[in-house]
Amino acid sequence: MANAQPNTKTDADLRKDALAVLTGNRQGTYTVPAIGLYPYQWCWDTGPIVLGWASVGQWDQAWGELDKLFSAQWPSGMVPHIVFWEQSDDYFPGPEVWSTGREPPTTGLTQPPLPVSAAARLFDADPDRDRAREQIGLLWPRLVAWLAWIERARTGPHLAAVVVHPWESGMDNSPAWDEPLAATPEISNEHLERRDVATVSAKQRPSTKEYRHYLGIVAALRKAGWDTERQVADSPFAVEDPAFTAIMRRAASDLADIADAAGQDASDVTRIATQARAGLAGLWDEQLGWYRAFDVRASTPTGPPTASGLAAMFGGANHAHAHRMVDGLQAWSSAVKFSVPSSDPTDKSFDPIRYWRGPVWVLVNWLVADGMKLAGLEDEAETLRAETRALVEQGFPEYYDPRDGTGIGGQGFSWSAALTLDWLTKPDSTP
Ligand code: GLC
Repeated sequence: MANAQPNTKTDADLRKDALAVLTGNRQGTYTVPAIGLYPYQWCWDTGPIVLGWASVGQWDQAWGELDKLFSAQWPSGMVPHIVFWEQSDDYFPGPEVWSTGREPPTTGLTQPPLPVSAAARLFDADPDRDRAREQIGLLWPRLVAWLAWIERARTGPHLAAVVVHPWESGMDNSPAWDEPLAATPEISNEHLERRDVATVSAKQRPSTKEYRHYLGIVAALRKAGWDTERQVADSPFAVEDPAFTAIMRRAASDLADIADAAGQDASDVTRIATQARAGLAGLWDEQLGWYRAFDVRASTPTGPPTASGLAAMFGGANHAHAHRMVDGLQAWSSAVKFSVPSSDPTDKSFDPIRYWRGPVWVLVNWLVADGMKLAGLEDEAETLRAETRALVEQGFPEYYDPRDGTGIGGQGFSWSAALTLDWLTKPDSTP
């Protein structure tokens, strides 16, 4: 990791700028990831976003966004990855492509259950204890139903969590998915009306070929009727994902930790946490020294070391494993200036500006730094925090080029701003 740069902005200034971004992306009761590029409510983005609102004392907004997301939960317990609250021409594929028949319209996939840990953090930190107990009481059955659905419908051969589409991982075009994605059907050209490349350079986004596969999987799941109990069988793509499993483990253990204080029963979440921990251990690759995805269809571990493996630390990975990966991360630093690149910079798949194939993401750094602390790597966590702070001083883009820290992708990105408020600056300097 690069040595931390001296701060050029005060915490107070940075907080003011971050809050302006979050406020600009707020659509009343929910906050979009970025105006134009992502005009709806996204599932795992809601986790960091509510932490950001809480950090500036906007507790009702924070709890309200979680409530809003869960109001779109499916009867099975699945929380959809996008909720299409408003009509927008800025995004493809929109509700008509998904055709899930839900009201409000949603996609038929999920994302890592990070909002669960965010709810637990809000419960711990809300100074109004009556509100905290009331809100967690209302959310509790919905939080547990989501985790129970993942356990029931998405447990893979190693007991890790299975994603049935790269979009479910949140790390869409990671090289970890290259092989399983190549084995899925492609839809034909005429259905492809990408809007993302109107605002962001195509070189910084997934390729058109990848999009054809993404939509091929959507078409297969749509044809199968969006039966969320059987998507692992219905999808041409099924992969056990370390980061998803780690976030699941952390979600369940965070709920177990607050269950007593919240007056709730911990038995389901304790069982789920134990299983997810075993699942994570099952994805450890001793030879590579990294947590690695497992392609369920091809029955083989897949892909180079990526940020998904590192984010396993957020789930409380085995300390010896965490230390080994952090040694590996130090070795990455000879190839790039800023950590954490989203994929191994020494691998041939690395692309420093293309989305999840190289760029640094603030959310990944937060997950990794938090996980480092769980593994007793306090100094490394602090170095990563300081380095991330240096990146956000130039603004809150979607991601950064790890070679020189240039901000790229969408601009005014909510989780970059929200985690600046919750993690990278001190709240007592709030303007
Ligand atoms: C992209 C990211 C995903 C995120 C979404 C909205 O699809 O890959 O992780 O949730 O944008 O920000």
